[in-house]
Amino acid sequence: MTTSTTSLPGGTWTMGDLTVTRVGYGAMQLAGPGVFGPPADHDGALDVLRTAVELGITHIDTSDFYGPHVTNRIIKEALHPYADSLTIVTKVGARRDAEGGWPHARAPHELRQAVLDNLENLGLDTLDVVNLRLGAVEGPEPGSLAEPYGALVELQQEGLIRHLGLSTVNAEQVAEAQAMAPIVCVQNLYNLARRSDDELVDSLAEQGIAYVPYFPLGGFSPLQSSALSAVAERLDASPMAVALAWLLQRSPNILLIPGTSSVAHLRENVAGAGLVLSPEDVAELDAIGR
Ligand SMILES: NC(=O)c1ccc[n+]([C@@H]2O[C@H](COP(=O)([O-])OP(=O)(O)OC[C@H]3O[C@@H](n4cnc5c(N)ncnc54)[C@H](OP(=O)(O)O)[C@@H]3O)[C@@H](O)[C@H]2O)c1
Repeated sequence: MTTSTTSLPGGTWTMGDLTVTRVGYGAMQLAGPGVFGPPADHDGALDVLRTAVELGITHIDTSDFYGPHVTNRIIKEALHPYADSLTIVTKVGARRDAEGGWPHARAPHELRQAVLDNLENLGLDTLDVVNLRLGAVEGPEPGSLAEPYGALVELQQEGLIRHLGLSTVNAEQVAEAQAMAPIVCVQNLYNLARRSDDELVDSLAEQGIAYVPYFPLGGFSPLQSSALSAVAERLDASPMAVALAWLLQRSPNILLIPGTSSVAHLRENVAGAGLVLSPEDVAELDAIGR
C-alpha cells in the first residue's frame, strides 16, 4: 500500500507505481568525513533517519558507495523492516578507491555486483529505484549509455530493480535511455545558482518524469549570494529555507533530497521548504542563476 496524502510541503509525486513526498531526504551526509567510513555519531545517524520517517518523508536517496556500504547499513539498522510507503532510491556506476575517490564502475559485471551489494546492505529483495550515475559530480560527460543502461535493464527484467533512473546525464543520454526502457527520474546537480538544467527540468516535467536535484543547498560549498540573503532576511527565514522553497516552487516534478547529519537541520529543512515565495521573491532569486 502506498500513501498519496501528506502534510509535508509540496505534496507528493508518483514515480512509476511509487508515490513519494516531494520533500525527501538525502542520506550521503550520514557517512564519515569525505563520505568515507563510519559516522562520528552512529546513534545520531539512526536518529536522523527515524526522524525523517516520523516527519512523514517517504523518499530516501542513498548509494552503496557512500561509506562505502556504511550509509545503506545505517538505513537498514534504523528502518528495516521498511514501511510499505517508504521508497529508497539508490545509485550505481561508481565505486570508492583507497584514497576516497569516486572512479567509474559501469562495466556490466560491476553494475550487477553493485545492485547485489545494495540489496544485501539495505536488506531488500528488489530495489525500488536505481539510478545509473554516468558523469562526474560536477556534471555530465557526453557519450552513449547503451551498454551500462542495457545491463541495468537486464537486472530489472530479472526482478532485482523495480524502476530505473539516471544521474549526472545530459538530454541526449536521457533520450537514448528512454528509447531502451522507461526512466522515472533524473538526478543532476541543480540549485538556485546552478541552472544549466533549466530546459531539462521542463522537458522532464512534460513527460511526467521526476527531476531530483543534488546539492540543493550547494553541497560541499553552501549557497552564498547577496540576493539570496536579502530575500531570506525580508522573509525572516534562513537562506536554506529559501533555496528549498524556490526548488519546490520551480516545477512540480522537482523532488527535494537535502542532505544533513543533524536532526535539527532536518526539521528546519522540512519546515523551510514550505515557505511561500511571492512572484517578486522568485524574480529576485531567478536573477541569481541567470
Ligand atoms: N547523483 C549524484 O552524483 C549525487 C552527488 C551528490 C549528492 N547526491 C545526493 O544528493 C543529496 C543532497 O546533496 P548533499 O547532501 O551533498 O548537499 P546539500 O543537500 O546541498 O547540502 C548538504 C550540506 O548542507 C548542510 N545543511 C543541511 N541542512 C542545513 C541547515 N538547515 N542548516 C545548515 N546547514 C545545513 C549539511 O550539513 P549538516 O550535516 O551539518 O546539516 C551539509 O553540509 C545527498 O545526500 C545524496 O543523496 C547525489
